[in-house]
Amino acid sequence: MCGIVGFTGKAAPEATEKCREILLSGLENLEYRGYDSAGIAMAGEGEGITICRAVGRISNLRKAVAGCQPQGSCGIGHTRWATHGRPTVENCHPHEDEKHSVAVVHNGIIENYQHLKEELQRSGVEFNSQTDTEVIAQLLAHHYSGNMKDTLQKVLPLLEGSFALGVLDKNQPDCIYCARRRSPLLVAQGKDGSYLASDVSALLAYTKDVTYLEENGIAVLTPDSIRFYNENGSEIHPESTHITWDATAARKNGFEHYMLKEIFDQPTALRDTLNHYVDVELGCIRREAMPFTPEQAKALRRVTIAACGTAYHASVMGQSLLEQLAGIPALAAIASEYRYSNMPPVEGEVFIAVSQSGETADTLAALSYKKAQGLRTIALSNVLGSTIAREADAVMYTLAGPEIAVASTKAYLTQVLLFAILALDLAHLRGVIDDAKLKEGIAALAKLPEQVEEILAKQSVVQDFVQQQKDCRDIFFIGRLMDYASSLEAALKLKEVSYLHSEAYAAGELKHGTIALVDESCLVVVFATQTVVLEKTLANMEEVRARGAKLLLLGHFPEGAPEDCSLWNIGKTSDQLAPLLTTVYAQLFAYYMAKLHGCDIDKPRNLAKSVTVE
Ligand code: F6R
Repeated sequence: MCGIVGFTGKAAPEATEKCREILLSGLENLEYRGYDSAGIAMAGEGEGITICRAVGRISNLRKAVAGCQPQGSCGIGHTRWATHGRPTVENCHPHEDEKHSVAVVHNGIIENYQHLKEELQRSGVEFNSQTDTEVIAQLLAHHYSGNMKDTLQKVLPLLEGSFALGVLDKNQPDCIYCARRRSPLLVAQGKDGSYLASDVSALLAYTKDVTYLEENGIAVLTPDSIRFYNENGSEIHPESTHITWDATAARKNGFEHYMLKEIFDQPTALRDTLNHYVDVELGCIRREAMPFTPEQAKALRRVTIAACGTAYHASVMGQSLLEQLAGIPALAAIASEYRYSNMPPVEGEVFIAVSQSGETADTLAALSYKKAQGLRTIALSNVLGSTIAREADAVMYTLAGPEIAVASTKAYLTQVLLFAILALDLAHLRGVIDDAKLKEGIAALAKLPEQVEEILAKQSVVQDFVQQQKDCRDIFFIGRLMDYASSLEAALKLKEVSYLHSEAYAAGELKHGTIALVDESCLVVVFATQTVVLEKTLANMEEVRARGAKLLLLGHFPEGAPEDCSLWNIGKTSDQLAPLLTTVYAQLFAYYMAKLHGCDIDKPRNLAKSVTVE
């Protein structure tokens, strides 16, 4: 989740100024895609390639550019959301080869970069950064044939993973080469030159007619022309698209709110996160990406987890996954409570702090508390180099990309996915499951993105249901075991964006008091994915039905719903993964309820995205 922009302009007295401004303002328009560091590279006849980079916002890059004054009328720029290597100047894009002949900006993830890097290092190539992107620049220089398009055709098949690339070649200083696989990239011809961007929002100030590169396609931009090539190198003539969105809509990719966009980002977020930790084809875990060595895994006696809000709910899921899949005693705690508890450390205990932002004060305090007890600590975070990630002894990142809406959605799903990967890995290392079972588990994880897509394709079912809930003011979410954790998250999501009263209960607890509140004015949402307690959960549903409540059932019920009950079905998966799928429905439900009530969905009242006060 980063942003790319590029421009090659016609010769003119102000060409350098113009190119710099197009790159910088294009990056400002893309800042919502990533904002931990940014950079530009510019090329001009007799000037070579000049690279200028800065950590932080584009405003910092503007100052750096004013200082280093890159020359030329052709350039590429990038705003970064770090995935490999912390947000430092060395890790900022553009990256170049050791001879400064090629500069590259890149969105996406090169999964086999470590292997490619080691091969290049063996042939004497020296690296300057920890990024996967530098491998592309070094490979292009290493295989350079005098023709960058041919070189790209040779190098791209070596890359595994996803990429959108912008490339400058010192020998052709008015040319930008670009290519893509599973990551969007578009180009446009304007009257003053040719443009490149990863998102249309960077180009709307100059043109509304853009051409999207085809999968595995290459394009070559000069000031007067853009030529397109397919995977085999044959020239093609794709049609352009006329954009009708304004800049704000474009940033949200056409979605009305960031929350909805981020709900729809989830298949990609799950795929990116999974591929970082798991080799899906081989059915094995990438050892180097995991926080436990085999010895550490065997010595593990207990996992304690602390987090706040949605991240706490992901931790409750994590507790169940570690217990059920790996047989490890685990405890998920609310960070603001746990930090004041007097929990003595246990021999072989490891502590995990879960935080999307990596900056939440209470989670950080819980981490410090456990560190002071001498425990080994692990962070699960979405922000590379965040405080919690830096403070912990080891870190696992979710690769969800920036989450802009205050209500957390894609971070939650990827946090739970990380716990599932961790639990499978620990189970395997501790001999609880064999290779075949590990493969089976990974295959189930690999199906998740598609299963989420199937649910997203049914969003109109949720919308229609919500339309019938105009008068509903009290909503109860109930479930047992992992479905209880889903209920907690569903109730939080609904109340924070729609301001409706909602509560989550372990289904078996209702009859111990809360059922007194249930009458015909209530909606009761029943999560029913846990086989071992399915009948009991359905019996609890009957108890609220008898009090006149309206019912909505979520789970895998191919044979249909009981009478007088709405049903949202999920695809077939394990009991451990099913709650991820029902949660997608719950997110859509919260979103459409908030829309029905005219709420400020992306910025709910009284809430902030990052809670840095205790
Ligand atoms: C709810 C939400 C919050 C956060 C909580 C922790 O949608 O976003 O409950 O989950 O404030 O934030 P992080 O994960 O950044 O520590």
